[in-house]
Amino acid sequence: MRIEVFADYDQMSAAAAALVERAVSAAERPVLGFATGATPIGLYRALVARHRAGALSFSRARSFNLDEYVGLPASHPQSYRSYMRENLFDAVDFAAGACRVPDGQADSLKAECEAYEAQIAAAGGIDLQVLGIGTNGHIGFNEPGTPFGTLTHVATLSERTRQSNAVYFAGVEAVPKRAISMGIRTIMNARRLVLLASGSSKAEAIRHTVSGPVTPEVPSSVLQLHPDLTLLLDRAAAAALDGVSA
Ligand code: GLP
Repeated sequence: MRIEVFADYDQMSAAAAALVERAVSAAERPVLGFATGATPIGLYRALVARHRAGALSFSRARSFNLDEYVGLPASHPQSYRSYMRENLFDAVDFAAGACRVPDGQADSLKAECEAYEAQIAAAGGIDLQVLGIGTNGHIGFNEPGTPFGTLTHVATLSERTRQSNAVYFAGVEAVPKRAISMGIRTIMNARRLVLLASGSSKAEAIRHTVSGPVTPEVPSSVLQLHPDLTLLLDRAAAAALDGVSA
């Protein structure tokens, strides 16, 4: 695991953009894995800026998102499809149909999960997966207790996660209770992982990720077993780590 600590959020985001850019140029048909939430917004802003400057094209790339709420239409402002369109997809040059987000309104959620795994495999696997982290160590929507062998599945959101995400909805009652999420195994299958964390609310989760016991009770702890993981942190998120400074 590599750990890089940055003075602020913008520097962390720029470093993440550089990793994505390298992954795009390193492969004939790069396959990217994207995350949502507040944390990667600076990354996407940086990628859009590079694209607008003529320095980065996604025309050969494909992407798979980590997760999507069950029951929200793709056009709902809080769907992760809307988030990705707004922050990245509509601002850059992916080919039509190149970006996959789970369909949280599929008639058969089980069939959608299986199709999602099959499509990732058919694309040759994910070259670089971007991750955020929940305050309870969740990755994607893999909440504490999710078995490490889980593939793309229908996940039940913890109350803590629903409370955290309530700011985006008209109160916690409006936050969906379920999501389709890549599983822990799906995430671990990616060739490279980059996890971004910003702010003091993530410091404990980051400490567990780096040096806690590897246990399903802290889903991100499994990342210690990945052969190619980079943690990009701002100072506040790194504050509980021993011997790490920016
Ligand atoms: C959400 C998402 C995760 C994200 C996490 C942290 O529930 N499903 O993929 O990493 O919460 O979000 P934020 O970056 O807003 O703190």
